[in-house]
Amino acid sequence: MRCALVSTRLDLRRYLGAASGQIGDRIEIVDHRPKSLDADVRLAVAWHPPADAFEHYPNLQAVCSIGAGVDNIIACPSLRPDIEVIRVVDPAQAQMMSGFVTWHVIWHQRRFGSYLDQQRHRIWQRLTQRAAQDVPVAILGYGEIGQRVAADLAVLGFPVMVWSRSAKLTPPSIRGFHGGVGLDAMLGETEVLVNLLPLTPETQGILNRKRFCRMRRGGYLIQVGRGEHLVDEDLLAALESGQLDGAALDVFAAEPLPPAHPFWRHPKIVVTPHDACEVRVEAVATTLVATADAIRTGRRPPHAIDRERGY
Ligand code: NDP
Ligand code: OXD
Repeated sequence: MRCALVSTRLDLRRYLGAASGQIGDRIEIVDHRPKSLDADVRLAVAWHPPADAFEHYPNLQAVCSIGAGVDNIIACPSLRPDIEVIRVVDPAQAQMMSGFVTWHVIWHQRRFGSYLDQQRHRIWQRLTQRAAQDVPVAILGYGEIGQRVAADLAVLGFPVMVWSRSAKLTPPSIRGFHGGVGLDAMLGETEVLVNLLPLTPETQGILNRKRFCRMRRGGYLIQVGRGEHLVDEDLLAALESGQLDGAALDVFAAEPLPPAHPFWRHPKIVVTPHDACEVRVEAVATTLVATADAIRTGRRPPHAIDRERGY
């Protein structure tokens, strides 16, 4: 089966090269060639595809993302509604994301930012500390990754709340919320807010002034979803007023984050370059092989997203 590699951002051939043994020769990998039609391509791997990319493949059946998020693929105007979009689901990725989020939760809880400041000024002074049980954490999104993060934080003793679109059964250590009313109720009790939502028209701009104002004063934001979830000016205003005490930002509306952006130099913001986790190429290759097998046997590929919902 022929598979086209389509990206404006990454050298996908080089990236997938490390897993060529796993992909084998049942999938013929070809590079995307602008302006040339290829009716034999039935599968593609894409990450930030060019706008007209999929016009060139009239028999394309499925596009695999190289990440958990698929928003950059869905946003491509040439993606026909009948094409399946497949995302990566990998327990190792969820574990890595959990480590990243947990580190930031504890950074806030144990006041490491203040200790770094003190060290710069050679100040030896103990700061008041709070137990995990006094720092409620709310997670937006209780999917593959949110579930893992919630479980790990609960084990560490943090009161954990989760928010999803549909109502969920949660273990006793995790409180579930859903819908608009659920979000308001949850935020009223939240000190640390973790964003693990997919980017859809419903979730765009969800991290805004109104939401920050509902949180406990002196709260903390851990933003690992997508940059477009956040209204940048609202975050800056919340930090300025003290409503939020800090933020860890891994994703941005423009990536790389432009050098002049105020986030870079803000003393209360930690910036990382969309690196909360690195997807293992083996997981991408597994997704690709499983998708090709499904197409060959006329089944729906595993981890195909719901095009209607957008995730
Ligand atoms: P899933 O699709 O497994 O889970 C998504 C969750 O979000 C579900 O619980 C879903 O609710 C909820 N959700 C979606 N829309 C809404 C809405 N309108 N209101 C309330 N809840 C909603 O995704 P993953 O856990 O695998 O990944 C989540 C996101 O994390 C990715 O889309 C990506 O943006 C980001 N990500 C970032 C990475 C990074 O390096 N920074 C790495 C990996 C992922 P329900 O269960 O009811 O459907
Ligand atoms: C993502 C990923 O979706 O890295 O951001 O998986």
